[in-house]
Amino acid sequence: MRMLSSLALAASLACAPMFAGAAPAATATAALPAPAGAPQADKQAFINDLVARMTTEEKIGQLRLISIGPEMPAKQLMQELAAGRVGGTFNSVNRAENRPLQEAAMRSRLKIPMFFAYDVVHGHRTVFPISLGLASSWDMAVVEKAARVSAIEASADSVDATFAPMVDISRDPRWGRTSEGFGEDPHLVSQCARASVRGFQGSSPANPDSVMAFVKHFALYGAVEGGRDYNTVDMSLQRMYQDYLPPYRAGLEAGAGGVMIALNSVNGQPATSNKWLLRDLLRKEWGFKGVTVSDHGAIDELLRHGVARNGREAAKLAIEAGVDMSMADSRYLEQLPSLVKSGEVPASILDEAVREVLGAKYDMGLFADPFRRIGKAADDPADVDAESRLHRAEARQIARKSLVLLENHNRTLPLKKAGTVAVIGPLADAPIDMMGSWSAGGKPKQSVTLLQGMRDALAGKGTVVTARGANITDDPRVVGYLNFLNWDNPEVVQDKRSAGDMIEEAVRVARGADTIVVAVGETRGMSHEASSRSSLGLPGSQQLLLRALKTTGKPLVVVLMNGRPLTINWEKENADAILETWYAGTEGGHAIADVLFGDENPSGKLPLTFPRSLGQLPSYYNAPRIGRPFTPGKAPNYTSQYFEEDYGPLYPFGYGLSYTTFSMSDVRLSGNKLSRGGRLTASVTVKNTGDRAGETVVQLYLQDVVASTIRPLKELKDFRKVMLAPGESRTIDFPIDEAMLKFYNAKLEYVAEPGDFNVQVGFDSAAVKEAGFRLE
Ligand code: BGC
Repeated sequence: MRMLSSLALAASLACAPMFAGAAPAATATAALPAPAGAPQADKQAFINDLVARMTTEEKIGQLRLISIGPEMPAKQLMQELAAGRVGGTFNSVNRAENRPLQEAAMRSRLKIPMFFAYDVVHGHRTVFPISLGLASSWDMAVVEKAARVSAIEASADSVDATFAPMVDISRDPRWGRTSEGFGEDPHLVSQCARASVRGFQGSSPANPDSVMAFVKHFALYGAVEGGRDYNTVDMSLQRMYQDYLPPYRAGLEAGAGGVMIALNSVNGQPATSNKWLLRDLLRKEWGFKGVTVSDHGAIDELLRHGVARNGREAAKLAIEAGVDMSMADSRYLEQLPSLVKSGEVPASILDEAVREVLGAKYDMGLFADPFRRIGKAADDPADVDAESRLHRAEARQIARKSLVLLENHNRTLPLKKAGTVAVIGPLADAPIDMMGSWSAGGKPKQSVTLLQGMRDALAGKGTVVTARGANITDDPRVVGYLNFLNWDNPEVVQDKRSAGDMIEEAVRVARGADTIVVAVGETRGMSHEASSRSSLGLPGSQQLLLRALKTTGKPLVVVLMNGRPLTINWEKENADAILETWYAGTEGGHAIADVLFGDENPSGKLPLTFPRSLGQLPSYYNAPRIGRPFTPGKAPNYTSQYFEEDYGPLYPFGYGLSYTTFSMSDVRLSGNKLSRGGRLTASVTVKNTGDRAGETVVQLYLQDVVASTIRPLKELKDFRKVMLAPGESRTIDFPIDEAMLKFYNAKLEYVAEPGDFNVQVGFDSAAVKEAGFRLE
């Protein structure tokens, strides 16, 4: 391996703190909990006994994770299972189809059960809002509920494990997988990671209605250069530890049983062959006891990364680095037998990997009952897609909380349930897009579009008229790209009319209405794996459509559907209201109508920054401080800014409006000094100054004024979502202790340095009230 031993690295750290492969000198927190399940002592004894009875071939078989479908025909798969040559599969969510596979595994010599995994990211049969939408709720009960219901549905379809939560911090929205994560902030994403794992696993991953969570993608996948998917990542250890690693760690602290390894490289070494990442950091420093799995085909990709000359080297690098299971490539199967036989890969390393796989199965409860999530054939659902299997009420409730009101001039919203509403736009009636990427077992025909939601809301009270108005894109190359995987059943179906004709029709329809609600944005495929964009505006002729609709003089309500921040400068200035809905899931159309008509008062807040332009990327609020900052009200010359446009984001992190208004008092501190081990309280009184009940999010940011290394402008440390009746006031107390002031210094020690700190409390990251204290 190219990596130095961790001992040598630790020694080199003091003089070369930025060295890419360095192991940190100090750890932030204690070792991770052992996954909840059966008693750990019994588990170890059980696994010891089993491993002692396994042949090398059987051991290698356990490391194979096979994609149902393309990778292997069902008949061959059964034979492989019966021969004990498969550890688990993914992509099959049907009890009746999975049962014979488990039965085949039970015919193997040692009767080691297989497990079934799936990408249950934001829903299973019922699709919830995409993770960005869930994070926008800033309500961890909402995030947990979505994962819990997903687990109930997935486990009822024989799924034992999910490749989720995806907790990659993303600061460059060109990256299509921004949609799949919980945003840009270490604290918020960490909270979401914990809530998701709690939801997926329940009290134990062994429960029949739980699925084991695989935190992904370890590590730093969201930091791919230029937001281009699969690109390289090069990052200082300080930034890594401070900003990017906490969410993975949080998911593991919450007890996640698995980790999926990222496809990208980390400081010159692919994550899949990164011994420092997988052994020194994950296993030794963090004490992770669960199973690791490579991402799809990633061991094979070590050849293309240029760190392995052939499959043999790739397999050796991966297993030595600590990749337990190989997903969808055959390198382990082909190469490990002779690598182990020759001693090039010590048998102990193979055994370690096997023990983790068996341990995960043990924790999933599969040794106790291999069929615990498959059940009896007599109980199989007659129709896996049956309406009765959905959780529509939960989906609607959760989706309502995920919507972010960005603009509402002259109280355009909420709309009255009367008159004629023109529902226009390429996403107004788009059932597939409503589900977002990674929609698991969700069926488009079961998702409620905006048009349907508006019709249901206005039934008997008003009229809905409609026109498409525009295609999402007018570029055949983009359409071809988006339909690549689905030539037979294309997701993006173009209206053959010209952009001009479609706009003309839409304007005609809009003129006959009282209000225009126009759904624009991106198809779900545009905010997906491998869907990096080189621009962030509304694609195609969608903005032309908006401009034309604006000329009608009718109130223009823009409903955005997208999986990343968009540069909606014109829309901000010209729309009467803007509602960010992300991809709101199965009940999206109803939930959006609930907000548009005021049955729900919007309370979502942005989990990431909306930049003004592509040129502002990367965009994130907690940026390190600099020597020549731009100061509002002062000449911009020789300050850090872009001279062609206004300074700062279009919408800051944490921003979102309500149909009511809130005021906040100055920040009161219980003292102006904090002693080590002591505690201060920062309090604000928040009042609902409007005329209807509503929720807002009170956000606490801290700033270390002077430190031994550069610290961020501010960092989110705590938040509270509060519901207030009109005129009601509430005092919110935020405890502040030493732990909240800690950061990784140049030696990667996790310390709180004495000195001054600013406390900032606000309804978003930009508009804050301040106070200060000193750490002694
Ligand atoms: C993705 C993973 C996913 C896996 C299995 C890969 O392409 O990067 O996030 O879990 O496929 O579907």
